Amino acid sequence: MISHQTPELTEFAEDVLAGLSATPKRLSSRYFYDDEGSRLFMEIMKLPEYYPTRAEMKIFEEQKEGILKAFTDGADGLDLIELGAGDGAKTAVLIEYFLKAQVDLTYCPIDISQEANDALKARFETLFPDLTITPHTGDYFNVLSSLKNTSSRRKVLMFLGSNIGNFQQEKALEFFRSLRSVMNDNDRLFVGFDMQKDPRVIIAAYDDKQGVTAAFNLNLLTRINRELGGDFDISKFSHYAQYRPVECAARSFLISREKQTVNIAALGRSFEFDQWEAIFMEISQKYTAAMIEELATKSGFLIETEFLNNEDFYTNALWKPL
Ligand code: AVJ
Repeated sequence: MISHQTPELTEFAEDVLAGLSATPKRLSSRYFYDDEGSRLFMEIMKLPEYYPTRAEMKIFEEQKEGILKAFTDGADGLDLIELGAGDGAKTAVLIEYFLKAQVDLTYCPIDISQEANDALKARFETLFPDLTITPHTGDYFNVLSSLKNTSSRRKVLMFLGSNIGNFQQEKALEFFRSLRSVMNDNDRLFVGFDMQKDPRVIIAAYDDKQGVTAAFNLNLLTRINRELGGDFDISKFSHYAQYRPVECAARSFLISREKQTVNIAALGRSFEFDQWEAIFMEISQKYTAAMIEELATKSGFLIETEFLNNEDFYTNALWKPL
């Protein structure tokens, strides 16, 4: 049968359409991570101002013994499942230590970027020839059901790097609840939270001197141009970051430097920008201990252990199902 309906838009196209039609305009940071975006984020992690990656790395290096104990307490083997694995550099520290301690281990990294996954698999196969590694390429929002397995081995779901900070509070709850729904009672959730700290340290991390964060943000416009036939002129937008200490929220925006019209072919329409109009791009939520506690309780978990970095104000929390 011939369909006369307009062809269905992809989820990306739908979200761009909704976001740019809204007031205020917004785009979703979940679309930052095409291959170029993933590469730029790896650059961000090396910046002197971007402390979260090093803060978490320090916890893994200094507290791996305690982490191993907590992960293996009451379990014979572990299936490590990492949501948004990226280059897996921090996880490698744990895996190396776990393998030395002869833990029966498998590793399943999930990432949106095929390129990042291929590089990770190649590197881990060289580093850890005996490790069973099965990467999944895809959006971890959509892989939840594939996490449901029937094995009785303990799954430790890992959501590191304060990735949770990209969710608004309600979405974070929803996300943890859906993770809870695919977990067995003996499984665990290991989450990295960046905590409240000197606002000046935070704002520097999201507005770096070299402009890598700006490029990371602007890359989403380039992606829209390429994948949806947009005609964004990148030079007419600039990156702007703010931190609100009362809400503990860092936010980033792209500001239209002039009045302009942008066409997006795949959406069959154009969008008007006023001079200095903002597109809300990303939230990077920071947390207090009370906020973390509330998130755990409200989504059906109990905080089993916390591994703190008191210098950088960062924590990795191990949650068990309530
Ligand atoms: C990957 C979500 C943890 O919010 O800190 C880094 C992304 N954005 N610089 C963060 C990001 C700008 C990052 N997360």
